[in-house]
Amino acid sequence: MCSAGRENAPMRIGFIGTGNMASALAASVAGGDPGIGITGFDVSPEQLKRFRTRVPGAAAAADNREVVATSNLVFLAVKPQAVKPVLEEISGTDALIVSILAGVRLAALEAALPRARLVRVMPNAPALVGAMAAAYSGGTRAGDDDLELVGAVLGHAGIAMRLPEELLDAVTGVSGSGPAFVARFIEAFTDAAIAAGIPRPAAVQLVLATFCGTARLLEEKQLAPEELVAMVSSPGGTTVAGRAVLESSDLASVIRQTVSTTIARSRELGDEGAR
Ligand SMILES: NC(=O)c1ccc[n+]([C@@H]2O[C@H](COP(=O)([O-])OP(=O)(O)OC[C@H]3O[C@@H](n4cnc5c(N)ncnc54)[C@H](OP(=O)(O)O)[C@@H]3O)[C@@H](O)[C@H]2O)c1
Repeated sequence: MCSAGRENAPMRIGFIGTGNMASALAASVAGGDPGIGITGFDVSPEQLKRFRTRVPGAAAAADNREVVATSNLVFLAVKPQAVKPVLEEISGTDALIVSILAGVRLAALEAALPRARLVRVMPNAPALVGAMAAAYSGGTRAGDDDLELVGAVLGHAGIAMRLPEELLDAVTGVSGSGPAFVARFIEAFTDAAIAAGIPRPAAVQLVLATFCGTARLLEEKQLAPEELVAMVSSPGGTTVAGRAVLESSDLASVIRQTVSTTIARSRELGDEGAR
């Protein structure tokens, strides 16, 4: 459906800001549907050059106005602190604009772009390898067709689910910031493996494969976590001995506090952006 676009015209997706997230999304989209053309603009010519190397065939626009004028859907992918001049530059547009800016609410974007159809997305860093977990919400002017198109485009980079905007702060606490929390677990697990005598390269591979394998097993066999725990816990065995330590700790409460503190900070940033 992505390549259908406007009647008889190939689909073109634009990027305002062509940094890390934009390059990851553009490469996934272009790789997932060769019928989609990509256009980008960045104030940094070096960044735009890197983007075009990463996304073969991507066109360079002369400015952000050209991006919105020539694209069916435009990702707004600058840092939140750099967005004000961009919004002024494209203020008259009626394009479908998909903001990936953390903490900038739809109401603020709709006020700055009074004719645009807006969608807000909370992506995450695994988009860099096509394994994104994202959620998105539509503004008051985004139609069902717009949201369907955004869902299909984001789907090239991983999973993308439509949720009410009130939940995007919670999504930030779970999947937006989540990769940093999971990386801390992986680091602690790897350190424990090295302390037990396993050489670092082997420890890294074993731990990464254990995290990926566990997630795949839960997903593909549709197991609940407690079912998997029971599956690998023989009475009197090694896993039961290790679990006794883990389960007597306050791990669950630490995780809950980590996520709730992240959500609170996301709300604070949204309130600051709305002022
Ligand atoms: N990275 C993540 O894991 C993650 C997760 C969730 C959401 N996000 C959101 O994704 C957005 C982009 O993040 P990123 O990590 O991809 O940032 P990035 O790598 O810094 O890319 C942003 C690019 O936009 C350029 N830019 C600045 N002003 C511009 C303008 N007026 N017109 C066109 N381009 C302009 C920047 O150039 P200069 O560097 O020269 O200013 C930079 O090359 C942020 O809003 C962030 O909140 C990121």
